[in-house]
Amino acid sequence: MVREWDPRTAPADEIGSMLDTLNAVVATDVPEDPLWQDSFLREYLAETMPGERRICWIAEEEAGPDGRPGRLLGHVNVLLLGDIGVVELLVHPSVRRTGLGQRLLAKAARRAYNEGFSSIGVEVVGNTPAVAFYESLGFIREYVETRSVLKLSTVDWLTLGEMAGGIAAGYRVEFYPGGPPDELIEPYAKAKAEVRDIDDGDLDLRPSSYDPQRLRDSLACLRRRGLQPYIVLAIHEKTGEVAGLTEVVVPAQHPTRADQYDTIVAQDHRGYGIDRAIKARMLFELRGAEPKLAEVQTWNAQANEPMLKVNAELGFLADREWCEYGIDVAELVHRFNNRD
Ligand SMILES: CC(C)(COP(=O)(O)OP(=O)(O)OC[C@H]1O[C@@H](n2cnc3c(N)ncnc32)[C@H](O)[C@@H]1OP(=O)(O)O)[C@@H](O)C(=O)NCCC(=O)NCCS
Repeated sequence: MVREWDPRTAPADEIGSMLDTLNAVVATDVPEDPLWQDSFLREYLAETMPGERRICWIAEEEAGPDGRPGRLLGHVNVLLLGDIGVVELLVHPSVRRTGLGQRLLAKAARRAYNEGFSSIGVEVVGNTPAVAFYESLGFIREYVETRSVLKLSTVDWLTLGEMAGGIAAGYRVEFYPGGPPDELIEPYAKAKAEVRDIDDGDLDLRPSSYDPQRLRDSLACLRRRGLQPYIVLAIHEKTGEVAGLTEVVVPAQHPTRADQYDTIVAQDHRGYGIDRAIKARMLFELRGAEPKLAEVQTWNAQANEPMLKVNAELGFLADREWCEYGIDVAELVHRFNNRD
């Protein structure tokens, strides 16, 4: 049975069953990734930015003869933002290729269509069945990144120390667990906005925040979802500008592996060793602040050669393609209607 599902009010055993299915998917599709822990899954699914909504459905087994609820076999959610619906979909490996993935996706697509959204986007992990699934439905691959993983056990901390110190005079590097102080939010947002103007073709399914209030909201939303942000900034001492920034998030759901978010060096401040210095400083700080942390993962456009070079120097190893797929909602709904 497929039904709409609200993670805010769902009983704890349904959240537990969701975690089991999610981990069965991780173990099957990306066995190199850490399993999720029983921590902040409800909040991860329930919390959104102001003005955004996430609508969820689940597929579950029939209840047993004793009335005990059946296992959760599949889940889909659509995050409605701007004019796009961003979908996350998973089906337990034991019941794949029975049409459940399509049934769940049809729910999310019809809702997005009825609410006037124009397109659907989804992040698809390379070399998993999801690629064939979305392509069979007419989704178009719009953007590809490479995911790379750094194992902290392989880091040469002495060399890293040199990188952290190798920044030109006139800049100060600062570390802010939880997010920058309020007086730095504006210059921080400004540095992010500058890069936004460069069209990199990215669909922004993981949107950054460019205006100060949205940035505050975004940091608060991360924390509510159990995603602890850490920020390192390079401040240009003469002007007080944020010349560079790097953001890493440690999820309560898998605290052994952190996610690298944006790293930005403002145009006027390139060529002064800022990129290397802030990333190296971040790794030192994380080692102290997050004792369970073993790995950091990052995503880069294949064309972003300078960033790939710095990551390789730090010891990141490329592991998988990460693709953004998209489709027009009306076209997808039409396909589903023709199949019913
Ligand atoms: C993608 C996914 C949702 C598909 O679910 P599913 O229930 O197996 O999909 P369906 O049965 O509806 O498949 C529909 C069509 O997609 C295509 N398809 C799905 N899986 C496929 C596979 N492994 N190989 C080739 N084609 C496939 C087929 O055309 C299939 O139709 P068919 O079975 O009649 O040939 C499922 O594999 C999944 O949960 N993957 C994990 C996704 C995820 O969240 N990843 C993030 C963490 S890794």
